[in-house]
Amino acid sequence: MANKSKFQAIRGTRDLLPTETGLWNHVEETAHKVFATFGFGEIRPPIFEPTELFARAVGGDTDIVAKEMYTFDDRDDSSVSLRPEATASVCRAYIEHNMQQLPQPVKLYYMGPMFRRERPQKGRFRQFYQIGAEVLELLRPETPNQFATRHPSLAAPKDAATDAEVIEMVMTFFDRLQLPGLQLDINSIGHDGPDCRRSYIGKLYNELIKIKDHLGADSQRRIGTNPLRVLDSKVESEQPYIENLPHIEDHLCPDCTAHYAELQRQLQLRGVLHRKNWRLVRGLDYYMRTTFEITAKGLGSQNAVCGGGRYDGLVELLGGPRTKGIGFAIGEDRLILSLQEAGKGAPPQGRDVYIAWMGERAYATAVRAAKDLRTAGFSVELPPTELKFGKALERADKLGSRFALILGDNEVAEGSWTLKTLADGSQQKFTEPELLEFLRSCKRLSS
Ligand code: HAM
Repeated sequence: MANKSKFQAIRGTRDLLPTETGLWNHVEETAHKVFATFGFGEIRPPIFEPTELFARAVGGDTDIVAKEMYTFDDRDDSSVSLRPEATASVCRAYIEHNMQQLPQPVKLYYMGPMFRRERPQKGRFRQFYQIGAEVLELLRPETPNQFATRHPSLAAPKDAATDAEVIEMVMTFFDRLQLPGLQLDINSIGHDGPDCRRSYIGKLYNELIKIKDHLGADSQRRIGTNPLRVLDSKVESEQPYIENLPHIEDHLCPDCTAHYAELQRQLQLRGVLHRKNWRLVRGLDYYMRTTFEITAKGLGSQNAVCGGGRYDGLVELLGGPRTKGIGFAIGEDRLILSLQEAGKGAPPQGRDVYIAWMGERAYATAVRAAKDLRTAGFSVELPPTELKFGKALERADKLGSRFALILGDNEVAEGSWTLKTLADGSQQKFTEPELLEFLRSCKRLSS
């Protein structure tokens, strides 16, 4: 129960305390490790960017940009916003740092806070954390144009392998964390051409007009602004009508159809289980072809733990060269919640060694021993004032220490130190080098 004080964390934001940050760090370290095995390097873009960057990339009509950004005027009166997501920033950085000159594709990942002024609820925060990755690849002039409608695209199936590998990477990451009950949904929303998505949207619009009276206010508004988003509706009474709408898969152009088929084959090749979901359209404007979402258990209505997709053309839209892109972002808060619900809590926060010391000589040795043990990588608690051994052992226990090192003046004089295992109360005597070796072997066994 929180204590009332004059100041409290703002609604939708929160403190992550040491009881939880152990798990956060474990998740982030796992991401660093897994992503490195797929050849990704870390990028740390700024927390705020020009508002225009997000408006262009994510789309001015999306909920994120229209309603949810934290925007303010900088001192030069330019409008800046706290980042609601990081794909736009990564594309901006790709252009700004001429990354098209690096060996392609460029594979980047990031982690950090994002900000959206949404209605807070379980799994939905105003400051939340994402772990995301993007693969960007310059479209060389001789490569067939895959996002214009004019040319047949030989590149489509090849790109599907990249999509599948990116999805495989997220699933490997979740697997490493032993997150149970995941569901991967995939879809293709084609490309923005008259023979593909645009023709589908035309048909969808006509059908939506016919069922308009059965839809709620939000969906009715979306018929005019972004008909695809109606498919995203969770409103119960609308479902029977939406379920009967035409499927985009039946209206994709041949290239996008080939790409989608190849994506499924590539996922199969990698043993990645998935479900086709024709209603998965995503709430950001930059997507084309592949979209995907992963849901997890124990999260209630906010159960999407990862979302992503392909966004060829976004870099160009932001003023860069013609570039292909695919990526995802994991909602770290939701991932942590789901891990906790599955009983995969934080690794123990206790100390390896609590040093119970008594006497001036013993204290000098205890200070040195603490330094040596910490250098060797053990976590050590050294009480700053002398405590009776009984009291010190009580504290060691409360802190969840594995061992207590007992150092009195006698032990120091004899050069023989007593190590107590707190779980069973057993004691052993060691010389200093023996002690270090023993602790190392214990650590090896438990890791
Ligand atoms: P997004 O679907 O908006 O996609 O967000 C990705 C994930 O961030 C969601 O699935 C969810 O887990 C988490 N998330 C979003 N909003 C909140 C919130 N208010 N509170 C807690 N978690 C939240 C993107 O952001 C794209 N940039 C993903 C991407 C990268 N696509 C291509 N590359």
